[in-house]
Amino acid sequence: MSLNKKINDWSKKRVWIVGASTGIGAALADALHSRKAKVAISARSADKLNEMVTRFGASRAISLPLDITKVETIKAAEQELVDAWGGYDLVIFMAGDYHAMRAWEIDLQIAKKMMDVNWSGFMNGLSIVIPRFMQANDGGIALVSSVAGYRGLPKSLIYGPSKAALINLAETMFIDLKEKGLDIYLICPGFVKTPLTDKNDFDMPSIITPEEAALEIIKGFEKGEFEIHFPKRFTNMLKVLRHLPYSLYFAAIKRSTKL
Ligand SMILES: NC(=O)c1ccc[n+]([C@@H]2O[C@H](COP(=O)([O-])OP(=O)(O)OC[C@H]3O[C@@H](n4cnc5c(N)ncnc54)[C@H](OP(=O)(O)O)[C@@H]3O)[C@@H](O)[C@H]2O)c1
Repeated sequence: MSLNKKINDWSKKRVWIVGASTGIGAALADALHSRKAKVAISARSADKLNEMVTRFGASRAISLPLDITKVETIKAAEQELVDAWGGYDLVIFMAGDYHAMRAWEIDLQIAKKMMDVNWSGFMNGLSIVIPRFMQANDGGIALVSSVAGYRGLPKSLIYGPSKAALINLAETMFIDLKEKGLDIYLICPGFVKTPLTDKNDFDMPSIITPEEAALEIIKGFEKGEFEIHFPKRFTNMLKVLRHLPYSLYFAAIKRSTKL
């Protein structure tokens, strides 16, 4: 059963991707553009966004630089988008910051920055987007979390909890906003090869390309899924682990990661 409306004609969609300058967001912008969606792209790196808009053509793409940790920059970008296109149909909060950290390595500055982007940044964005969609009783909001949010994992001291919070947030938003006509999507990727994971010094099982991730995300929207998770060979195994009692879960993680 689809929990959200199925998207079957991208040519009628105006999609705003926040966190589109590199990695999964950039690949998704490319894939949506090639399906004839209009794409609004945001991140801090205005140069990369402008280069993408030049490639896509200014009639079907707009660059809206912002820093998700600074609410006034999101507000200005959103207003610019509404002024330019009269509104938008789907917003994907994709911006993320990641640093591997174990409990004995806690660095407060890095930890706070991760929470600022991955958690507070999402609050900033939602405070602007939800009222806009509520006026129309329509619109879709996607939160990009991670399978790292399913349960505690080694090297995921702050990143994991920031993504776990987004899973709970998306569930709560679905409960509150579905009846108001909004669609809420939770996106949980496994490992994807991007600048974010390039710094990892450990084996990343079932790693996929950003282009493959983008196709999975589009497939999920087209099916109207609430949770879009991939690659299934990896995420389904983690979903089983999610339901194990602690004694078995901790032992399985120790055995499989050797950490
Ligand atoms: N790669 C994976 O294996 C994986 C797995 C699970 C979940 N995810 C999640 O997927 C999302 C995309 O990650 P990715 O792997 O594609 O990484 P990425 O290539 O590093 O992309 C991160 C994006 O977020 C933007 N961003 C970072 N800080 C920002 C800020 N303060 N304000 C606005 N934009 C900001 C970056 O642009 P600027 O630097 O230009 O601002 C970039 O466009 C993240 O939320 C990540 O946690 C990734």
